Amino acid sequence: MSAAETLALLGGPKVKTTPYGKGFKHDVETEIAALRRRMEAGPLPLAKGQSIMAFRQRVQELFGVRCCVPCSSGSAAVHAGLAALGVGPGDEVITTPLTDHGTIIGIMQLNAIPVFADINPNTMMIDAGTIAPRITPRTRVLLPVHNLGCPTDMTGIMALAKQHGLKVLEDCAQSWMAEWEHRLVGTFGDIGIYSANESKHISAGEGGVILTNDEDLGRYADLFVDKSYNRTGNGPVEPVMPALNYRMSELNAVIAMEQINKVRAVADRRYELGERLAAGIAGLPGVSLLRPPSHGKCTYWGAVLFIEPSLAGVDGTGFCKALAAEGISAGQPVQGFVLQWPLFKTLNENPKAFRTYIAPGLTAGRFDVDQCPNAQGQRTRAIRLYLDNFCTDQDVEETIQAVRKVATYYAAQR
Ligand SMILES: Cc1ncc(COP(=O)(O)O)c(C=O)c1O
Repeated sequence: MSAAETLALLGGPKVKTTPYGKGFKHDVETEIAALRRRMEAGPLPLAKGQSIMAFRQRVQELFGVRCCVPCSSGSAAVHAGLAALGVGPGDEVITTPLTDHGTIIGIMQLNAIPVFADINPNTMMIDAGTIAPRITPRTRVLLPVHNLGCPTDMTGIMALAKQHGLKVLEDCAQSWMAEWEHRLVGTFGDIGIYSANESKHISAGEGGVILTNDEDLGRYADLFVDKSYNRTGNGPVEPVMPALNYRMSELNAVIAMEQINKVRAVADRRYELGERLAAGIAGLPGVSLLRPPSHGKCTYWGAVLFIEPSLAGVDGTGFCKALAAEGISAGQPVQGFVLQWPLFKTLNENPKAFRTYIAPGLTAGRFDVDQCPNAQGQRTRAIRLYLDNFCTDQDVEETIQAVRKVATYYAAQR
């Protein structure tokens, strides 16, 4: 073995010695100029201001949907979306155990019960095959998450929902512009939601959108995020139902508009770099990259490597350590496993532990950590690689070189 082939972990030279390309999501001059224009244009209404309405229109056009309801966050969007779908106390909502709290808290705010389907180990996501065994007479909504820019199989999920008469809410917070069957995610289910927090493909500082083609659902969500004030100009303005202030502010909408105008460019660059990475590491034994089938498009909110120890000669954790030693930004777990959170450990012991969460029918043991073995296994099997639209071509080339070097080393040890 040449010196260059010796792993950095074992004293060899690092593959990556230069810093990753960095950038700032916000074009400061452009966004400040847009904010200035808006502030100089006059008062900022609480709701339905000109910037909000323009942003709403722009998103509707981009996704080809009838209704977009801008709101304050992705979490708010899930909550409002589930409320619109009629989820109530004791109803069950099936979702993934690999996600952010924002997917789940809306379920719990409605005193409904999150039910965690295990993931498909090949995709790290829930799909029709893993959801089906979790359906009960109390299931109301299927809530798939498109993780890390990658679409899950919406054809199967929509067919399953139809078969059981269930509603579908797609959580696309991490997957702006991802496609399944050449169609944008978030447009398959009854409702789709996105987040525009600072970590996502695009950011309004904080923000979210609810998408739907069903005008009744759109109207309900619109009221739910605006304390249920009727601002249509028809009929009384007074609240008609309990509802929160989850509005997106007029100033956030100014930034959201600047950001949505570049979402395609951001997603396309990530796609280009991710696909180059996939091609560069193709064929390595026991190493694969999370990607959808050819009719899907991943927009890489990071890249996910899967390691199959029996073929790779090392487990994911060992591979990850070796990559990190090569100077590659690699980490585990890829995504938090919710059943290991203190929240669900507490509820598993005591379903009435929290004053603000009283779910009829919830019994002890419902959140047992062992019910999703594949999700638990991804903690060591999957590796998250840094990849965003500011990465340089060199960053991706070096990532490929490092993955090849580590894979080749361990494969030879088998
Ligand atoms: C999958 C998923 N759903 C929902 C959310 C919630 O979005 P927000 O932070 O805008 O409330 C996030 C945010 O991290 C997320 O990753």
